[in-house]
Amino acid sequence: MTNLPVGELVAAARAARERAYAPYSRFRVGAALLTDGGDVVTAANVENASYGLGICAERAAVVAAVAAGYRSFEAIAVAGGGEAPVTPCGACRQVLREFPAALDLEVVCAGEAGDQVLTTTLRALLPESFGPGAFQAEGPGAFQAEGPGAFHSEGPGAFQAQRAGASEAEGPGALQAQQPGVLQAEGPDALGRPPGDPS
Ligand code: THU
Repeated sequence: MTNLPVGELVAAARAARERAYAPYSRFRVGAALLTDGGDVVTAANVENASYGLGICAERAAVVAAVAAGYRSFEAIAVAGGGEAPVTPCGACRQVLREFPAALDLEVVCAGEAGDQVLTTTLRALLPESFGPGAFQAEGPGAFQAEGPGAFHSEGPGAFQAQRAGASEAEGPGALQAQQPGVLQAEGPDALGRPPGDPS
């Protein structure tokens, strides 16, 4: 592994674990991502009173790393509670799958202390996976990051909201919810009020 012993990456994940916000599960997890240039980005799980909105340490690390300008990773260490190694959940495996050479990513799983470490690869953890290469089959299209398509900010589509007047402009749509329209169409609401009655 480039420039960094596994032990150091595990130590970074364990240190990040101390900063977890996990008041609901009380299961704290830390992650440390090693970039291809040898830098390390750490994160921890962050839970929420709306339980389903919590984010795992590994995904938080990916988000932090990408926001800091990194997109290529060599390894990730994960440290959970207890002595037994904690492996990334399925959602995190898929998110890690996104980046260049992702399947070669080394995944180092550890507990909060002790010497038990499981070292594997994303290829082993996510066989027959789906990834960005799938979109190349059809040629240039909507999901090309830099080209024209459904998500291109200057083309037609749902993401024109930031243009002046876009939310008032061109026909019914989700951004017109405050005008009479689809959201008021179908009879009394949960309080028994008729359509259009804001009282
Ligand atoms: N969790 C992680 O952060 N990473 C994992 O690999 C497994 C689970 C978090 C999510 C949740 O906040 C808590 O652990 C219990 O599932």
